[in-house]
Amino acid sequence: MTGETSERRHVLLAVCGGIAAYKACEVLRGLQKAGCDVRVAMTADAGRFVGETTFEALSGAPVATSLYDYPGSAIPHIELAEWADAAVVVPATANVMAKMACGIADDCLTTALLACACPVLVAPGMNVHMWQNPATQANAVTLRGRGVSFVGPDSGRLACGDVGEGKLAGVDEIVAAALALLGPRDLEGLRLLVNAGPTHEAIDPVRYIANRSTGKMGYAIAAAAARRGAEVTLVSGPTSLGTPAGTRRVDVESAAQMHDAMLEEFEDADVAICSAAVADYTPASPADHKLKKSREHLDAIALAETTDILADLCGRKGSRMVLGFAAETDDLLAHAREKLERKGADLIVANDVSRPESTFGADTNRVALVSAEGVEQLETMPLPAVADAILDAVRKRMR
Ligand code: CTP
Repeated sequence: MTGETSERRHVLLAVCGGIAAYKACEVLRGLQKAGCDVRVAMTADAGRFVGETTFEALSGAPVATSLYDYPGSAIPHIELAEWADAAVVVPATANVMAKMACGIADDCLTTALLACACPVLVAPGMNVHMWQNPATQANAVTLRGRGVSFVGPDSGRLACGDVGEGKLAGVDEIVAAALALLGPRDLEGLRLLVNAGPTHEAIDPVRYIANRSTGKMGYAIAAAAARRGAEVTLVSGPTSLGTPAGTRRVDVESAAQMHDAMLEEFEDADVAICSAAVADYTPASPADHKLKKSREHLDAIALAETTDILADLCGRKGSRMVLGFAAETDDLLAHAREKLERKGADLIVANDVSRPESTFGADTNRVALVSAEGVEQLETMPLPAVADAILDAVRKRMR
């Protein structure tokens, strides 16, 4: 399910056990009409309202009801999560919202949702008192704070006879919200090359020199670009991150390997974004055996400068666009302008890594886009939103 760029958008429909579960069938149809492929995961209780067979027939795919029994897959929750460009929870019950807020994963649906890195839309449907219960309200606030989108609930006569808030939003409204979450496929036809992560520079077969980069920013760019229809190649240093859906990943370790891979992949790219924290120096003569302190009495490591990949790509770019990053702790804009100039990049994404919201490993970033045209300072945003803003800048420059 992973790895391939597909024309159609993938939506995971997570159906929970509420009377409005039958509306999920119409949501499924609406999404299909809008050009989406839909896969369904459902809770055991959802099956009491609408049979698995109905969703199977409508979606044309097996329905995930169990972590251990999904045709053709040993780990359905991960495969579905990676396959999905967006997940839509219809109807979201108070119970499943509570589990999502707490990170509880005790069935296939909640486990898949926990594994989703894609945008998630929640369409609550429940009794008015359950919706208004402070616990449910607090869970909604928690989920919104983590970037989960909500549609509804509406007010009206509820299935239980009560009147008030808790009614599932209209089918068309849910479909529209899901499509908005998927965003435009405005980068179709663009071949994007991104590098990400740190590099490891070997001292000997056991030790290396590295840096604090986690690769999250570059991976977010790759994921967002793939979601928006670009053909993405991600050249990655060592990270602990999963390959973003719809991207092709080339793994490297050292700055030299990253340089080779970037040069090769640049041949078939329209735009390159160099977000990797490439080591500036590498041990000049890495030992081919483990250095022993009892034998070598090491008191210094001779270093050699690595090739500046960004500058090298800029020197060969022709009509292609090349963006770089500047991770600084002081004089952010001055350093960024200097790098823009010295390396010949089209744009430098500058971030202050001494601030908690933009430091290594953070799930947010606060960046300034520095180009010959000027500086655009962006707010602190979650990484996917920062990635979209960077890609918007690329798009604007292409026009
Ligand atoms: N970069 C690169 N190859 C290198 C070093 C850096 O491609 N050998 C790229 C990074 O991917 C980033 C940009 O250059 O896009 C700036 O990296 P940074 O580490 O901030 O700057 P340096 O060029 O290393 O300069 P300095 O260490 O003086 O800040």
